[in-house]
Amino acid sequence: MKTMKLKNWFAAVMLTAVISANAHAATLTVQTDQPGAQLNPEMWGIFFEDINFGADGGLYAELVKNRGFEFPEPLTGWTKIVGNKGSGGELSVLTDQPYNAANPHYLRILSAGGEPFGVSNEGFRGIGVSQDETYDFSAAIRGVIGSPVVRVQLYGGDGALLDTVELKDFTSGWKKYTATLHPKATDPKARLAVVVDGKAVVDFDNISLFPRHTWMNRPGGLRADMVQALADMHPGFLRFPGGCIVEGPVLSLRYQWKKTIGPVEDRQLLINRWNTEFAHRPTPDYFQSFGLGFFEYFQLCEDIGASPLPLVNCGMACEFNSNELCPLDQLEPYIQDALDLIEFANGPTNSTWGAKRAAMGHPEPFHLKMLGVGNEQWGQQYIDRYILFANAIKAKYPEIQLVSAAGPDPGDDRFKFAWTKLRELHADIIDEHCYANPSWFFENTHRYDNYDRNGPKVFFGEYAAQSDYTVSVKNRNTLECALSEAACMTGLERNGDVVRMASYAPLFANSDAWQWTPDLIWVNTLGVYRTPNYYVQQLYSLNHGDVVLPVKLDAAAGAKLFASATRDNSSGEVILKVVNADNAPASVQLNLAGLANVSGDAKLTVLAGEPNDENSFATPQNISPKQSVVKVSGAEFQHEFPANSFTILRVK
Ligand code: AHR
Repeated sequence: MKTMKLKNWFAAVMLTAVISANAHAATLTVQTDQPGAQLNPEMWGIFFEDINFGADGGLYAELVKNRGFEFPEPLTGWTKIVGNKGSGGELSVLTDQPYNAANPHYLRILSAGGEPFGVSNEGFRGIGVSQDETYDFSAAIRGVIGSPVVRVQLYGGDGALLDTVELKDFTSGWKKYTATLHPKATDPKARLAVVVDGKAVVDFDNISLFPRHTWMNRPGGLRADMVQALADMHPGFLRFPGGCIVEGPVLSLRYQWKKTIGPVEDRQLLINRWNTEFAHRPTPDYFQSFGLGFFEYFQLCEDIGASPLPLVNCGMACEFNSNELCPLDQLEPYIQDALDLIEFANGPTNSTWGAKRAAMGHPEPFHLKMLGVGNEQWGQQYIDRYILFANAIKAKYPEIQLVSAAGPDPGDDRFKFAWTKLRELHADIIDEHCYANPSWFFENTHRYDNYDRNGPKVFFGEYAAQSDYTVSVKNRNTLECALSEAACMTGLERNGDVVRMASYAPLFANSDAWQWTPDLIWVNTLGVYRTPNYYVQQLYSLNHGDVVLPVKLDAAAGAKLFASATRDNSSGEVILKVVNADNAPASVQLNLAGLANVSGDAKLTVLAGEPNDENSFATPQNISPKQSVVKVSGAEFQHEFPANSFTILRVK
């Protein structure tokens, strides 16, 4: 028995020795008795842009593409259904006596009376239907000639009929008809067919199909699984609607929030700026229906507990595109749009725009506190416009914090120029963007240590590590990229007095229709998977703490260790975040200086794997946080951080 124990002991010592030989020795001291800055409770947030089919074909749960026949090629997304005998009828797209003047095109089906004749819709790269779900069909229909039956049908990708319902008794004026469909099988690539049976002429507009189960079960609402992924991040804020989409390639195609509220059918379709942006990723079927408009945006913020951070166009089209500028003496309508947006969000119900909010079902204010002026703007032309916006907004709404732009790069001349000017102007918050290799993120963990504590605050508003290079189609959401972001975020957190907000970008990507990679959350017609980068964002949000605690890391040369710490006031826990980006485990001596009594269970959450590991629809949890408990006794203890890992340690 004694021999056995000795052997086990010897084996254990040998194992430790092997691990220690591989591991980098380091000491990490957390000054728990020297609390620093109060962290912004809304520090970790979300950046949303309608890129990669993020809204239409994504968050907005409409399943029919080009439901109003307003695309420049009005039958985009629609295919003629001709019976086996080849007879049928005629399709035409007309605008006279429309259902809706804002979106005047509609479809006329002339059925010759042989076999049923009509159209089918392909959805946004397929219509995802689930056999457990109910689908609500609606359309504006006008009977012109005859008394036909209209069949509304769902077909699987293989052509199998999944369900069919009949509509009849059409009036000679436009009228909305509804039907309910229950597909008998699940199919990611189904189609919706609308066929006229009988000799007749019938007009159709706004042909729509929604799952019954949307987020909060709102009819015509948002995709529940996608919003759930956002809610699970517990975001502090939600920036919207972008991104370059705010700017538009030319000013006439800019995002105008006033065109996105009120009845959905009145919202005028607009070409999506990502439709044509990348010659290597053309998306000719990408348009904005604005079904997810500014009312739905504010409502979403409220639903998921995020502070709204809307952006408005500042009289500048995208400087990468036309760089079209609204002359300074004609900027008034743009500034008025910004003022009206604040009134729409916060104004009393007897104000012009507050009344519109109330009419849409939300008399209470949305508590807007921040507003972005422009997106990725640069140069004196931006400063000139920003001053006019800031003067007008601060005069009327001094409490609104303004977010200003520092261009597309985190350190070039445009960036330095913007910072110099905006500092002189005492700007509130400056939006910094960075898309770079993981090495940039690892090397910039001390970027904010020397920022002016009395200058403008920082919003690290768009960032993502690029495994290849920016806008490369080969970029992947690898663990290495996620760890580099986690490492950089230790620096954001340690400098929480300067960096008040941060968000990864872009947010969503439809796996069949993306323009930009990497992205935080990937979706297809039926599901969602969360990337390693998502879990990093989520872990920061769930473990943000209230106050920064100073950390001192003494590590061997070459160690890829990064750390930050905070304290959670309500639980009294010290929250330690450690990134070990090395390929070997790191054995670290932890010293919670200033704590007399430390004992009991510490909660451990670890995200780890191989640097090139990713998640996918097939393996969504490949890289995902694993939770456990470690026993701690005393303020000094040894902990081994796995190779290629991000660890959160919560010690009471
Ligand atoms: O996140 C994608 C794009 O990157 C944003 O629209 C823009 O602001 C940045 O250039």
